[in-house]
Amino acid sequence: MAFVRNAWYVASWASELERSLKRQTILGEDVVLFRTQDGIPVALRDRCPHRLLPLSRGALIGDTVRCGYHGLVFDSAGTCVHVPGQDVIPPNARVKTYPLAERLGLIWIWMGDPDKADETEIYDLAEYHQPGWGVAYGDALHVKADYLLLCDNLCDPSHVEYVHPTTLGSPGSEGGAVTFEGRDWGVATNRWSLESEPIGFAKAFGNFADRVDRWQYYYMYMPSIAIIDFGTAPAGTGAPEGNLENAIRVFSCHFLTPETETSCHDYWLHVRNFGADDPAIGEGISEQFRIAFAEDKVVLEDIQREEDRFEGGIRVGLDLDASAALFRRKIDQTIKAEA
Ligand code: FES
Ligand SMILES: [Fe+2]
Repeated sequence: MAFVRNAWYVASWASELERSLKRQTILGEDVVLFRTQDGIPVALRDRCPHRLLPLSRGALIGDTVRCGYHGLVFDSAGTCVHVPGQDVIPPNARVKTYPLAERLGLIWIWMGDPDKADETEIYDLAEYHQPGWGVAYGDALHVKADYLLLCDNLCDPSHVEYVHPTTLGSPGSEGGAVTFEGRDWGVATNRWSLESEPIGFAKAFGNFADRVDRWQYYYMYMPSIAIIDFGTAPAGTGAPEGNLENAIRVFSCHFLTPETETSCHDYWLHVRNFGADDPAIGEGISEQFRIAFAEDKVVLEDIQREEDRFEGGIRVGLDLDASAALFRRKIDQTIKAEA
């Protein structure tokens, strides 16, 4: 399977990694995750090197995993430390381990060359840590579609009018013009909709009723992190020039982890500049996002099904595809460079 391997992907919510064995499929590889007694996260290949039973079928005993078939015991470095019924431990009785890190309430895993794993390269969002900003965690949405279909969607501000008419889009308008540019880290796609109707989200959380200026900045980071900076300000108050005084602003963060070539998890959370200390507001935003992301899921899973049985032939290209196409080219180049 062709994935960018030398990258940090999200393996779990930090809060969901406990003193038990958790199996996750990441880039087509089965991994078993747990925390040691000291709380350190560990990831091993979920496959016993004896008869290949997934280790997640076994038991977590102290900081070791005991296979559920013949009782081989592996420590958190993947070394076999006990073989029932014999003194000699075969030197090749080893399980692959993966570098892990804990940031932004997430467990990050490095699936590539361990020597290249550098924790300072893990994505960070400054506002997540700043006073005046509220953070809320969403879900790990499972989508039966290639993660690149989600990346297409997250390079594409124009779909909101049609897919999310009640929450993130304004059904009566076509929005402003979309622009984009390639960056070292991926692709940035922008759209300003000036003097426009407020979207449902802005009516609900900003009490906007009159005309507004609203923006969508879609930052698609290689290989699969999307940060959507969107917001709404009263029309004509200088938001495009940087005056965000009366604006509501949200960073909607999607951390996509490919599971297989045709399925992925979308770990999403968001950071807002209003009601920072009120968890009910965070939950209210999550409720709107749940509606919207479920709408995306339906669209993308339907597209995946059609892709699976596409006979070839005409596929129309549009101007709005350009930014997603650039992102896919960057992914292809990175995969080739890694090979
Ligand atoms: S399969 Fe794991 S010990 Fe035999
Ligand atoms: Fe969407």
